Amino acid sequence: MNIHQTLPIYENKKDILYLLEKYSTLIIIGTTGCGKTTQIPKYLWESGWADGGRQIVCTQPRRISTVSVATRVADEMNQSVGKTVGYSVRFDEQIDDNLTRIKYTTDGMLLREMMLDPLLLRYSVIMVDEAHERSLNTDMLFGLLKKIQKARFLKKSENSRIDELKLIISSATLQVEQLQKYFQNSYILTIGKGQRIYPVDIMYLEEPCINYLDKCYHTVIDIQNSQPPGDILVFLTGKEEIDTLIERLDNFFSTQKSKISVVLLALYSQMSMEKQLKVFQQTNPSMTRKVIVSTNVAETSLTIDGIVYVVDCGFIKIKSYSPLEAMESLVVVPVSQSSANQRSGRAGRNRPGKCYRLYTEDSFSKLDHNLIPEISRSNLTPLILQLKNMGIDNILNFDFLTLPPTNNLASALETLYKLGAIDDNGKLTETGGILSEFPLDPQLSKVLLTSQRFHCTFECLIIVSMLSLQSNLYDIQSHSHRKDVLIRQGDHLTLLNIFQQFQQSNYSKSWCKSRQINYKSMTMALKIKNQLQAYLKKFSIPIQSIQDTDEKDLTIPIRKCIVAGFFNNIVRLQSDGTYKSIGNPLLDNLYIHPISVLSLQNSSPFLLYNEILYTTKRFIKDLIVIEPEWLIK
Ligand code: CDP
Ligand code: MG
Repeated sequence: MNIHQTLPIYENKKDILYLLEKYSTLIIIGTTGCGKTTQIPKYLWESGWADGGRQIVCTQPRRISTVSVATRVADEMNQSVGKTVGYSVRFDEQIDDNLTRIKYTTDGMLLREMMLDPLLLRYSVIMVDEAHERSLNTDMLFGLLKKIQKARFLKKSENSRIDELKLIISSATLQVEQLQKYFQNSYILTIGKGQRIYPVDIMYLEEPCINYLDKCYHTVIDIQNSQPPGDILVFLTGKEEIDTLIERLDNFFSTQKSKISVVLLALYSQMSMEKQLKVFQQTNPSMTRKVIVSTNVAETSLTIDGIVYVVDCGFIKIKSYSPLEAMESLVVVPVSQSSANQRSGRAGRNRPGKCYRLYTEDSFSKLDHNLIPEISRSNLTPLILQLKNMGIDNILNFDFLTLPPTNNLASALETLYKLGAIDDNGKLTETGGILSEFPLDPQLSKVLLTSQRFHCTFECLIIVSMLSLQSNLYDIQSHSHRKDVLIRQGDHLTLLNIFQQFQQSNYSKSWCKSRQINYKSMTMALKIKNQLQAYLKKFSIPIQSIQDTDEKDLTIPIRKCIVAGFFNNIVRLQSDGTYKSIGNPLLDNLYIHPISVLSLQNSSPFLLYNEILYTTKRFIKDLIVIEPEWLIK
């Protein structure tokens, strides 16, 4: 028997195909690892849903799972990725227009595709995966796909080339009644009802712990010293914590001698493909024990076999948005009960397992059942711009699965108005149309667009590419290794300088290394720059350099362009040395982050920031010195 035929979903293969013929939308519930993501698109492909040049697309909330799942499915078909099975994520694509029939993509990328192909006609079936996560883009997709489904249904009778759009929505949890009501002519199918799920012993703490990272460290050591073989999966909230724990465990285990050796592996987004794949490599459990320290990505999106022990720190890092402060930040909050149960479920896939919850049973009972959907805690500016670009003007009438808070909607509309993306009547302007097409936050796109007027597109393109990096640029925070690249007027100009010197070094790895600059991040910035360059070409924006003008202070036009995009982020020096927002009285007591070049020396009355970080204090980073009169257009 083929290995895939042992997956629980295989038993439902016929049902899935039959129900999809009969209903417009199929909602599929199945525990993590039952085969939803890897098998369903293949079933559809085999049974002809991708014939006649059509495609099947499956969306994921994250890049990391999109790439890894596509690679896995291609592998199962004995092909390399980019042939029959491809993927498309922001700034990276493995698709062959003639060959690719099954496409994995992020939900954000599919939203962008709608701008070019509003009815998504190339797709016969769209599978929205991980629906239980209710990511911002997934919620947007729900609203738009519902519209598209209706439009294609109506058009079908007029035009024989248009066929109905079928939707599959898959979820690892059971709360789908709301979805069934939302999508007309839908059906709920539960996978693997008779599937054997092994029992997982849940262990709670007697007393709440003060430092969960410390507790994780000791728990992993205890498991290694006292429990039979079996891999360990630790849930933490982010990269820094994960790296810290791995380093501490590495220090400890490298001095220990034991029968079973420990292999420490990290798993988080923004990790290279090779590193990610290590997590899936099979090891001999009687010789080695894998300890995988992961973010939420291992909760439901990625299935790793062989896990017997789960350590759950009880927290998760999520996006939070305050419309009053017009600011989005990442905050660490307690997990929901539903997440905690998903996490413990990772231990019982192959045999009975154990889950160590690093909180008390009483705390568990007080957790929320589910997290608030992301749409209720996000900056909606990019989304509303996209909706406007699709001709959806009355945002309040848009059929959201959950209506976002009115305050967030209002603040997004205000920002769009100030960017010149919408007019007095809330209609999309020409500028707005261009801004929405760039694969960037509208504020960054505005910087690029403005640079044409100031003849510094060459420089702004580099700065915007560097600001779009999602991974850390510096390997260490201290500036001591980077003295030769720092530009005192600010971080943006420093970013520009770093990129240009990197280019002059002929993209040298050792140039990066000696300055403790992350080489991978730099190559990513180069990739982003090349992509954005294609967009500039599309809009006939010439790439002029400020060096070719007769400006006296070459940095002024560049800084003015940044102000044009980030006018909301201006702060003024206070008598106590801290900064305060000029537009927003609630944002005060802001300190310059030590990673900023301005932390070395600065007394500028006005600064612009690109990011606020809450740690011990409220820090601002990615800073540039500005003149307040630049704010008046
Ligand atoms: O989407 P769902 O959680 O239902 O499962 P899946 O991602 O389709 O995974 C099905 C099975 O494939 C899992 O049980 C894993 O055993 C295996 N798998 C794997 O070994 N390596 C991957 N990169 C992905 C899946
Ligand atoms: Mg899946």
